[in-house]
Formats: sequence, C-alpha cells, structure tokens
Amino acid sequence: MEILVTGGSGYIGSHTCIELLNAGFEVIVVDNFCNSNRQALERVRKITGKKLKIYEIDLLDREGLCDVFYHNSVKGVIHFAGFKAVGESVQKPLHYYNNNLGSTITLCEVMQEFGVKKMVFSSSATVYGPTETVPLKEEIPLEATNPYGRTKLILEQILQDIHVADNEWSTTFLRYFNPVGAHESGLIGEDPNGIPNNLTPYITQVAIGKLNKLSVFGNDYPTHDGTGVRDYIHVMDLAVGHLKALDQVLTNNGVNVYNLGTGQGYSVLEVIRTFEEVTGIPIPFEITGRRPGDIAISYADPTKARLELGWHAQKGLEDMLRDAWRWQEMNKEGYLSKDRLIP
Ligand code: NAD
Ligand code: UD1
Repeated sequence: MEILVTGGSGYIGSHTCIELLNAGFEVIVVDNFCNSNRQALERVRKITGKKLKIYEIDLLDREGLCDVFYHNSVKGVIHFAGFKAVGESVQKPLHYYNNNLGSTITLCEVMQEFGVKKMVFSSSATVYGPTETVPLKEEIPLEATNPYGRTKLILEQILQDIHVADNEWSTTFLRYFNPVGAHESGLIGEDPNGIPNNLTPYITQVAIGKLNKLSVFGNDYPTHDGTGVRDYIHVMDLAVGHLKALDQVLTNNGVNVYNLGTGQGYSVLEVIRTFEEVTGIPIPFEITGRRPGDIAISYADPTKARLELGWHAQKGLEDMLRDAWRWQEMNKEGYLSKDRLIP
C-alpha cells in the first residue's frame, strides 16, 4: 500500500519512514529539502534495505503535487512538512502562515481531488499554550502564544472543518511532546541548522566539543529542582505512534487527537545528569536567566493513545540520550560530516 509522507526527509519523518518500510508500506516522500538533507533518505534506504520514491517538490506547488498523486496510488498521507522554530515564527509570521497553512490547504485540496481522504497530521504540545495544569489531557482548552503554535491550532481546526463538510475524511492529530533521540544505528538523527535551540542537541554539541557550555535557562521555576520539566519522547517511539495512527485513519472515518509523550517529566538538571551517566562525558553548564516564553512544567497524559491506539512509549530517557549521543558522535557535523564513520 502506497503512503505519501510529506517532509519525510526531516527529523521525525525520516525515522517514521523506517517504520513504514519495515511494516511493508511503499513510501513516497515529498520534500523540498528546505530544512533537511537528502542523505537522510539515503540512509533510510541503507538501514531498511528498501527503496522509497522521492519527489523534490514544494507542497505549495499544486501542479507538482497533482503529478505525484496522478502517478501513484496513494492511499493515505502522513503530513510532517512545515516550519517548526518558535522564535523564527515570531520574526517571520507571514513566512510561517504561508508555508504551514498554505501547503496544508494545497495538500488537502489535491487529496480531495484524487479521493484520498486519510491523513495523520503532526500537531504539537505547543497547542496547550502556557497552562501549567499537568498532566496535559487532549480535551483541555487550547491556546497558542506564537505564530508557529497558531499554525498548528488553525490547522487542527481546518482539518476538523474538512471532516464536517465531508465525513469520508479521516484525520488523526498527533500532539508530540519533546521529540529526542535517534535511530539506534546512529545513521539518522536530528540535524539542526546552526546553534541548536533545543536542549538535547545543545547537550550533544557541548559533549562533542562544538559548544563550550550549556546555559540552563532558569533554576527558579516551581519544580522539584527549580529547572524546567518536559516530557521527552524517543523519536522511534513517535515513529511507531504514526503507524498506529495510520492504521486508525485507514480503517475508520472521523477526527481523532492523541498526545504522544511518555507521561513522565524530567528537569533540565536530570537530563544533564542522565546524559553524563550514560556517556561518561561531563557537561559544563551555568545557570542563566529564564528564556522568554518558557513554562515551568509540561508533560502528557498519554492514556488516550494507549487505550485507543494501543500505543505507549517503550523507551526511557537513558535510551533517548544514548541514541542521541551515538548519532552525534558518528556525525559530528550532522549529515554534512566528512569525518563520519558511515561505511
Ligand atoms: P523537520 O524540519 O526536520 O522536518 C520537516 C520537513 O518538511 C523538512 O524536511 C523540510 O524540508 C520539509 N518542508 C517544510 N516545508 C515544506 C514545503 N513547503 N514543502 C515540502 N517540504 C517542506 O521537522 P521535524 O522535527 O521532523 O517536525 C516534523 C513535524 O512535526 C513538523 O510539522 C513540526 O512542526 C512537528 N513537530 C515537531 C516537533 C519537534 O520538536 N521536532 C515537536 C512538535 C511538532
Ligand atoms: C520547544 C518549543 C516547542 C517545541 C519543542 C520540541 C519553544 C518556546 N518551544 O519546547 O514549540 O514543540 O521545543 O522541539 O521554543 N533549555 C535550557 N537550555 C537550552 C535549551 C533548553 O535550559 O540551551 C531548557 C528549556 O528552558 C526547557 C527545556 O530545556 O525547560 C527544554 O527546552 P527545549 O528543548 O527548547 O524544548 P521546549 O522549550 O519544551
């Protein structure tokens, strides 16, 4: 069965392609490579020993996308493509609204035209806004505090409206918490541009010697050690979650939403300590001021995904950090590494 994966060359998309190929799906990737490297998909081929079709197309290119649907018998879509940097979205809101909303609308129009009405959509825990009522359940009121978050909130609403107008549509929104880690081969992983914004890539770049020390953004939060608490989730667990959601959209009609998190929160200091324990590498850090926009604590209630999708996270923080480190160690410069140990 042919599944279209938009943004399939990106961090979460590439890991999900592995699970799809291993499960016997035929994978068609559409990506414009604006935030990813073709190498990722080469390595997906290497890891799985299976082929996948790759189209270098911007999702805003309606004709190009129609061509993909015309030449393939797509049965469902996993839609990862989009911009994802919160800070950048505040600087360039139009860029974010145009890309994230425009590309999804174009995609849905083309899907409708070709009678493909099954979609798994990448949402985010960012739609819960600044609430500190944890654990976060799917049904609490939603709020966005920046343009990136607003694109996710608006897209969830648009996709619901599409189902109301045509109940053959089946869409599952997956609200990811904090995706980290890498495939256990060390061949694919997260490859941020420039200096990382997120905690774990920052830590691995300190460990490899690219950055001097980590800034811990505040130790005066109302948490057990004063530092921010998050629900880190292994990217391969997320990948498995997408297969469960795909199964749901292919076999049911309706709109569903699930948190994908472990349900367990860890503080910044706990992440640092665990990284040091599993790798034996000390991480120098200093406590600095809070980062604007950060909240104290966020973790999922993942019960709904367990009960309705039969999914729960299998991997713990140690696995996440060990795998993130393996990827970093094998690919000092990410996919551009010349010193990589890849055969
Ligand atoms: P990523 O940037 O690694 O992957 C996104 C991919 O989409 C990239 O390969 C990029 O080139 C492609 N893309 C972007 N715009 C496109 C367009 N117009 N046409 C074609 N391709 C396009 O991001 P990711 O971390 O893999 O995230 C995947 C999805 O999950 C995104 O929608 C993101 O908002 C969402 N999400 C990510 C996180 C996270 O922390 N990584 C958390 C919550 C939600
Ligand atoms: C960020 C995004 C969120 C996205 C998530 C997962 C913001 C405001 N939010 O969330 O939309 O879904 O990434 O990719 O950008 N920290 C440090 N030092 C650092 C980096 C982070 O102390 O150098 C702390 C943060 O204050 C936070 C924790 O580490 O307490 C995790 O931060 P990060 O990885 O950036 O994720 P979020 O802020 O949860």
